[in-house]
Amino acid sequence: MNSETLTITDNRTGKKYEIPIRDGAINANDLRQIRVSEDDFGLMSYDPAFMNTASCQSKITYIDGDIGILRYRGYPIEQLAEKSTYLETAYLILYGELPTKAQLDEWSRNVTHHSILHENIKKFIDGFHYDAHPMGMLVSAVGALSTFYTDAKNIFDPGSRTKQTHRLIAKMPTLAGFAYRHSVGMPYSYPDNDLSYTGNFLNMMFKMTELKYKPNPVIEKALDVLFILHADHEQNCSTNAMRGVGSSHVDPYCAVAAAAAALYGPLHGGANEAVLRMLMQIGSKDKVPEFIKQVKEGHGKVMLMGFGHRVYKNYDPRAKIIKQVADNVFAVTGRNPLLDIALELERIALEDDYFIKRKLYPNVDFYSGLIYQSIGLAMDMFPVLFAIPRTSGWIAQWEEMLLDAEQKIARPRQVYKGAGKRDYVPIAMRK
Ligand code: CMC
Repeated sequence: MNSETLTITDNRTGKKYEIPIRDGAINANDLRQIRVSEDDFGLMSYDPAFMNTASCQSKITYIDGDIGILRYRGYPIEQLAEKSTYLETAYLILYGELPTKAQLDEWSRNVTHHSILHENIKKFIDGFHYDAHPMGMLVSAVGALSTFYTDAKNIFDPGSRTKQTHRLIAKMPTLAGFAYRHSVGMPYSYPDNDLSYTGNFLNMMFKMTELKYKPNPVIEKALDVLFILHADHEQNCSTNAMRGVGSSHVDPYCAVAAAAAALYGPLHGGANEAVLRMLMQIGSKDKVPEFIKQVKEGHGKVMLMGFGHRVYKNYDPRAKIIKQVADNVFAVTGRNPLLDIALELERIALEDDYFIKRKLYPNVDFYSGLIYQSIGLAMDMFPVLFAIPRTSGWIAQWEEMLLDAEQKIARPRQVYKGAGKRDYVPIAMRK
C-alpha cells in the first residue's frame, strides 16, 4: 500500500480518520473533523513559534537548512553573489525570472527615478531626537510614506503595486541615508542618479563637500553582494510580519514598516549590531575561551550572537560568501582588528560539544557587521543595512500572499488556559 494519506486513530473515541498528505504536509483544517462530540470545536495543532507549520506555499526562496542550501527562484545564492547585481536579483525575486537586458534597463531606470523623497519627509526626520536609532527612524518613516502615496491602498491594482514596488525599493536607501545623516547631525545628501544602487547609497551616507561622490568600486561591489545575500530568506520573522500585516489588506508601506520593526529585534536583523557589541565587549582573542564558558553556563542567557539559526543546522551559506567578501574589503580598508576575535570564537565554537550538539554555526550576521564597520558604517546602521535589500523579498512575499487564493487574513487560533467564567468583584470587596 502506498497512499498519500495519514491515518489517525482518535483513542478518545476509537474513530479512525484518513487525512490527505499534500507536498509533505497535512492541512491543519482537516484535523477539525476529529471531535469527541457534536459541539466539540475539533482538533487543532499547537505550534508556538511556527516550529513545524507551513503558513503558505511559495515559489520564491528555497532553503535546505540541513545541508546549507539557499536559492532564489531556483538560482543558487553562490551564483547570484558572483554573477548578478542586487537590482537584477531583486527583479528575479519579484518577477520570478532573470530579466532580459531591456527589462533590466527599464527596471533600473524606474528604481533610480523614484529615489527622491518628498521634502516633507525631511521635516519629519528632522523631528526625531538627536540620538534616535536610525532603524527606529526608518520604521517610522517608511510607514509615513503611506500618507504620501494614498494610491498604494489599491493593492489589487497591478499597476499600483508595481509603482509602490519601485518607490519602496528606491526610497529605502534614501530614508536610510537621511536617518543616518540626522543621527550624526550632517546635512542630508540627495540621491545621485548617475550612480549604481549601492554607489548611490554610499553617496547618501558619506558625501561631504565634494561636488560628485565617487564610491570605491571594491566597497560598492562588496555592499552589492551583501545586498544580494540579504534579499530574501523565505518565512522568517519579518517576512511573516509582512505577510501577516499585509493580509489585512493594508497598504504596502504600513506592511513594510511592520516587517522592518520585526527585523529590528536582536534575534533577527538586529543580530549584526549585537555581534559587533559582543566582539567589542570580549575585547581580545585571549578572552574568547572565558566568553564561550559563559555562553555554555548561561543556558540561553548569554548568547553567542551571530550563531545559530532556526532553519540552518549547518554553516549558513551566506556566512561563507561574506567571509570571502570580508577579505576583499579588508584589502582596501585594512583588516578589522575584531576579525581575530570572531575567527577565534568560530574556531572554538565549532570544536565545542555544546555548539556541535545543538548544530550552532555562524549565520549571516556573524561576519557582516565586521565589513560594515570597516566600510565606516555606524553600528546602529547595521539593521538598516539588512532592511534595505530585504525590502525586495518582503514585497515579493506580500504580492505572492495577495494573489494566493488560499490565503485569508492571518488569524491564528489559541489554546485558552485562563480563568473560567467568574463574576465581577467590586473594588472594595477585592482582597
Ligand atoms: N548561543 C548560544 N546558545 C544558543 C544560540 C546562541 N547563539 N542559539 C541557540 N542556542 C541554544 C539554545 O539556548 C538552545 O539550547 P537548549 O537546547 O539547551 O535550550 C538550543 O541552542 C536551540 O536554540 P533555540 O533557541 O531553540 O533555537 P531557535 O531556532 O529558537 O533560535 C535563533 C534561532 C537564531 C533565534 C537563535 O539561534 C539565536 O538567538 N541566535 C543568536 C541571534 C542571532 O544570531 N540571530 C540572527 C539569526 S540569522 C539572521 C536572521 O534571520 O535575522
